[in-house]
Amino acid sequence: MVTLRGGGPRRGNSLSKIGLVRDGAVLVCDSKIAAVGPRAQVEHRAEAKAAEKIDVGGRVVLPGFVDSHTHLIHAASRAEEYELKIQGASYEEIARKGGGILNSVKKLRAATREALKARAMAALGEFAAYGTTTVEAKSGYGLDVASELKILRLHKELNQEQPLEIVSTFLGAHVVPAEFRGKPDGAEKYLALLMDRLLPEVVVGDLAEYCDVFCDRGAFTVGQSRKLLMKAKEHGLRPRLHAEQLSRTGATQLAVELRAASCDHLEQVNDADVRALAKSGTVATLLPGCDFHLGLQGYAPARKLIEAGAIVGLATDYNPGTSPTMSMPMILSLACSELRMTPGEAIAAATINGAYALGREKTIGSLEAGKQADVGVFEVEDYREIPYYFGMNVCWMTMKKGEIVWMKD
Ligand code: NIG
Ligand code: FE
Repeated sequence: MVTLRGGGPRRGNSLSKIGLVRDGAVLVCDSKIAAVGPRAQVEHRAEAKAAEKIDVGGRVVLPGFVDSHTHLIHAASRAEEYELKIQGASYEEIARKGGGILNSVKKLRAATREALKARAMAALGEFAAYGTTTVEAKSGYGLDVASELKILRLHKELNQEQPLEIVSTFLGAHVVPAEFRGKPDGAEKYLALLMDRLLPEVVVGDLAEYCDVFCDRGAFTVGQSRKLLMKAKEHGLRPRLHAEQLSRTGATQLAVELRAASCDHLEQVNDADVRALAKSGTVATLLPGCDFHLGLQGYAPARKLIEAGAIVGLATDYNPGTSPTMSMPMILSLACSELRMTPGEAIAAATINGAYALGREKTIGSLEAGKQADVGVFEVEDYREIPYYFGMNVCWMTMKKGEIVWMKD
């Protein structure tokens, strides 16, 4: 059993302290963990006597994965762009020609609420099948008042209608939508719409906990991002940022300045950015699925970040343009083979540090008494085999708040 006990966030050496227990057991009462530790001790407790026993047959038990960065709601894949990229077109070239995020925006605006919901439901089932129990979800493919609200309301509905927890983030500032482009001050006018019309609606409807901005070449500048995120903060939404993915813009320094919950991507960070993150409480969330899917070799400097003392997290970035996967184990495989993280570090980054990135380190991310009974069971003999195997699903059972939500047949 990999417990990740001992509190977060995990920095430096503490990232690899995963709290292994051999022949362990978890005692679950209602939705919470009542006790955890060596099986003989747990079974000896008075409350354990009447408990229903699930024998996982020597398999490996982990806290459920906390996927702290996804673009859950979108209408369709972009498989046609995948083929163009393979033939040599870059992500940014495709975006400049109206493909990329704008392609997904067009499709989302045309999609019905029901179709979006059905697609998201199926995706959430898939997240659960790979051991994930909490999923952050960003809006950002609507980019007008009605469509952004449609997405954010779906986050709320899905939270009530299926077992995984969804943490909602408002990403109205994904890119400037087509109808504002090529006009004088188009970006500024769109930002004004986000601040004056959308943000108040998001707050009144209690539709998001976080506000994110894609701060990069071809999206929003540091100045524009600061303006929006400060406004969001006034409204009680905590900032997070897409930073230094395609180019180095200084978004990381902004994230640290604003005490953002997380700063995500980080492929292009410099040494000063690494030092700033190391001194901060902002989680450095790495998304290696993007470089893998785009066929790039510019993976974020995970070792540098860990050794400097930053809080390193891992997430899927599930989205149709750069990382179409719901599999956290696949992200662990990439983190190990490409980012040179050890299996233990990768698991900690995908559980306790993910929980920290979502402000939920007190309730999820580790197997400890008092926390939610969110558990993943894997059909392997050694926890290191979870990233070791790739392109296949070794998850055997997933439990959310004490209920089995997925089981291998
Ligand atoms: O995290 N970088 C911005 N957003 C997404 C990509 C979105 C898309 O291409 O649809 C990301 O990589
Ligand atoms: Fe993203």
